[in-house]
Amino acid sequence: MRAATPIPGISDGVFSLGVASGDPLPDGVILWTRLAPEPTSGGGMPLRDIEVDWQIARDEKFADVVRGGTQLATASFAHSVHVDARGLEPGRDYFYRFRAGDVLSPVGRTRTAAAAGSAGGQLAFALASCQDLQNGYWPAFDAIAADHPDFVLHVGDYIYEYDPDSDYADRRHTAPEKPGIDQLQTLADYRNRYGQYKSDPALQAAHLAAPWVVTWDDHETENNYAGLVDESGDTGDKHQDQATFAKQRAAAYQAYYEHMPIRAELDPGSPDLRIYRRLSFGDLLTLNVLDTRQYRTPQPGSPADGIGAVSLGRDNAAGTMTGAEQEKWLVDGLRASRSRWNVIAQQTMMAQLHGQLNGSETLTNLDQADGYVPYRTRILSAVRDSKAANPVVLSGDIHCAWVNDLRVDFDRPETPVIATEFVCTSISSGFFLVSEDFVRENNARLNPHVRYFRGDRRGYTRVTVTNDEWRSDMRVVETIEKRTAPTSTDQTWVVEAGKPGASRA
Ligand SMILES: [Fe+2]
Repeated sequence: MRAATPIPGISDGVFSLGVASGDPLPDGVILWTRLAPEPTSGGGMPLRDIEVDWQIARDEKFADVVRGGTQLATASFAHSVHVDARGLEPGRDYFYRFRAGDVLSPVGRTRTAAAAGSAGGQLAFALASCQDLQNGYWPAFDAIAADHPDFVLHVGDYIYEYDPDSDYADRRHTAPEKPGIDQLQTLADYRNRYGQYKSDPALQAAHLAAPWVVTWDDHETENNYAGLVDESGDTGDKHQDQATFAKQRAAAYQAYYEHMPIRAELDPGSPDLRIYRRLSFGDLLTLNVLDTRQYRTPQPGSPADGIGAVSLGRDNAAGTMTGAEQEKWLVDGLRASRSRWNVIAQQTMMAQLHGQLNGSETLTNLDQADGYVPYRTRILSAVRDSKAANPVVLSGDIHCAWVNDLRVDFDRPETPVIATEFVCTSISSGFFLVSEDFVRENNARLNPHVRYFRGDRRGYTRVTVTNDEWRSDMRVVETIEKRTAPTSTDQTWVVEAGKPGASRA
């Protein structure tokens, strides 16, 4: 690193949001930080662009630095920095840090992906989603940091858009410019909210411990939005026409980019940002990371809470969650894959999930794939026909943990299981289904493909993959009412390579 030169206005606290890395390749990784001494109120930076130095080394003390440079943190991107550090060796740990003026950032640990074509080995990662800050603390992130995984996969609801309302005095949301409609709208709104979430020490620890692979769900923009249609059933102040919502989405997507260690090309002011992408870890595992919000058609029936009759989803012939282009990209990738395990990481639950309340008609959550049944049938048929080895679907969104057998047609239990779905519970967001017992009884009657369900605990899923076996530890934290709490494994579920379907270890 060049000699440290103080910059007027840059002092301790400029790295209040920590550092992060993400999207590991065999030869590179994205390094991230954002200069923000006042992260919940505009950032607190001078309006000019600032030069930031960076280094990546083989050792934690930076005796063996392999790459480094200087990059501009621009005011137009909220003084965030995304360094695409290349020229690294595959499958090994690295350490990285930044410097602004004479202030050094914390040191993060990252790890590159295994070399293309390399066989075998072991891959360990955490699956996480849904961290409503107002609902409690995040001991699950301390546990993820302690695991030192190869990467963390986050499948959405990294922030929530709601107005301040919390039982915890230190966890009340930042106030948006226009309160009362329970959503963020402006770029400043979204930036301040990310500033608040990313100030949490447990979240920072999990970013310091490993590279992350992220995708968004709805709450990074607005609950249950679909494409350019805002929250279904909205009326009054909350309802916006598509042109107005496009501006909100552009602000949400820009703030997401500014705060995530993601490899993406942001066009400022545009409501579009491609984040679906594919990452490979040798021949062991290919990770298809989907975006099922930006290109989806509206939920059928558009009920405010997403719940409606099963037939609405079955009849949704033109409905799609990925859009045609992303669907083709996914199917082409599955057909071409030579990986031992082929993962589809997405947002809302893929498996059929039906419910009956006191003898009511059969209902479902139309925001999940049950709202898009012809689309789901097409995707699962393509998964089967692609001959991609050992497909696994990973999901979040529902704030409880599940292991599901996936079939092309869930109503024909005599047909083969083609893949397994693991759904992680939430980091902190509330469990909103009727009751634990109700869900179990309902599953036994209506959803026989569900192998595991637990709703009363927050946590994450810890995954270990080898050539022969996929192992998911369903991790639960004792409480989210305290900053720190013990984490344990509730149950472990295993998939043997070449043998579709999960079994309890
Ligand atoms: Fe959520």
